[in-house]
Amino acid sequence: MNILLIGGGGREHAFAWKIVESPKCTRLFVAPGNPGTAKIATNLPLSVSDFDGIAEAVLQNDIDMVVVGPEEPLVKGIVDFFAISPELSKIPVIGPSKAGAQLEGSKDFSKQFMSRHAIPTAASQTFTQNEIDAGIDFIKRQKLPVVLKADGLAAGKGVLICQSYEEAEASLKEMLLEAKFGEASAKVVIEQFLEGIELSVFVATDGKNYTILPEAKDYKRIGEGDTGLNTGGMGAISPVPFADKKFLQKVEERVVVPTVKGLSEEGIPYIGFLFIGLMNVNGEPFVIEYNVRMGDPETEAVLPRIKSDFVELLQGMGSRQLDRYMLQVHELTASTVVLVAGGYPEAYEKGNTISGLEEMPIDGTALLFHAGTTANENGEIQTNGGRVLAITGLGTNLEAALSNAYAAVNKVCWKDLNYRKDIGQDILKLNQ
Ligand code: AMP
Ligand code: GLY
Repeated sequence: MNILLIGGGGREHAFAWKIVESPKCTRLFVAPGNPGTAKIATNLPLSVSDFDGIAEAVLQNDIDMVVVGPEEPLVKGIVDFFAISPELSKIPVIGPSKAGAQLEGSKDFSKQFMSRHAIPTAASQTFTQNEIDAGIDFIKRQKLPVVLKADGLAAGKGVLICQSYEEAEASLKEMLLEAKFGEASAKVVIEQFLEGIELSVFVATDGKNYTILPEAKDYKRIGEGDTGLNTGGMGAISPVPFADKKFLQKVEERVVVPTVKGLSEEGIPYIGFLFIGLMNVNGEPFVIEYNVRMGDPETEAVLPRIKSDFVELLQGMGSRQLDRYMLQVHELTASTVVLVAGGYPEAYEKGNTISGLEEMPIDGTALLFHAGTTANENGEIQTNGGRVLAITGLGTNLEAALSNAYAAVNKVCWKDLNYRKDIGQDILKLNQ
């Protein structure tokens, strides 16, 4: 098979690494890819939202399957674009339709979906500009803290956890009246705060059948001890020890089954990955959010644990025969540390030369995934984004995985390099 992968971050480097490992992959193209994917596949200089360019590349390169990494092209309807084109409609695209992508693209849509299908989530109500007074009234009737969420995509920044009614009221006004998050906050979901521990469950589905992939926990805040600003993710671990069989069974019965069934009953085509952000509230799962793609950096911890053929999984999804696929998982722990540019998630420098990459271990104890990097004219790798590299350590337990991850992290250097040194420490303490 010739496969085209859309995206260019750490998640896509991990996908690419797993795809080329399969004997079923003849050629892999990545649009736009990064210097990491360039080593194992052919990068195409196309933006993820350039549907015409992608269509041309698919026809030119005899592509048999398209795999979509990030949410942006999904929410913009890449799957529907392929489905209505006579030349492209037969080529499977792994990703949900535009309607399905609303599970991530609109928090209001996803809350209503959960309500229709009795999927456990925080109680909430949605308000628009005309309903500001009702929104303020609603806030005052909530327990503190109260959670405000911009309805649309806001690059992970659209959620505010307000500790006082004054703060919540002011934030609601900023979001609805002053477009704090642009169009994304034209509607605001106000919801109850859930107290518990978070984890993410990943599902591959063909719209009818599903396979639950290994779960992961990510570390969203920039600072150690979960402090400071939210980021796209500073690290991840998989498996998550507190997600025992009993808890995961509840997730399957109460969340995964009704979600897949609900999409199908509503006639929403969904062939793709579903990322379920969950809160474990005293052993009971509640959905915090859906994403319609794999997580980043969770993918860099989850995929190395998959033992069965990854292209077969993708084919099973594309041909709606996922029931024939048997997922096998390595009994290993994976821990991912994200190396970021100093200043991220606020302003940061680009163009700093990265040293030490050639010293990465090649004995399988650690894996290097590129995210925000670029190669200059001399072939030197330089920083080109906030999240620059993701390094995954593998081991028989969490201590070993972390020790392998940090041993590899310590080989790498650039001006202003920053990373969290406490990935996984909360879990180690929990287990003591
Ligand atoms: P989201 O973009 O919906 O994933 O929200 C970002 C982060 O805000 C989540 O990962 C949680 O840490 C936190 N969060 C969102 N909703 C709630 C909630 N209802 N209760 C507690 N924390 C929440
Ligand atoms: N790591 C969180 C996300 O991918 O949205």
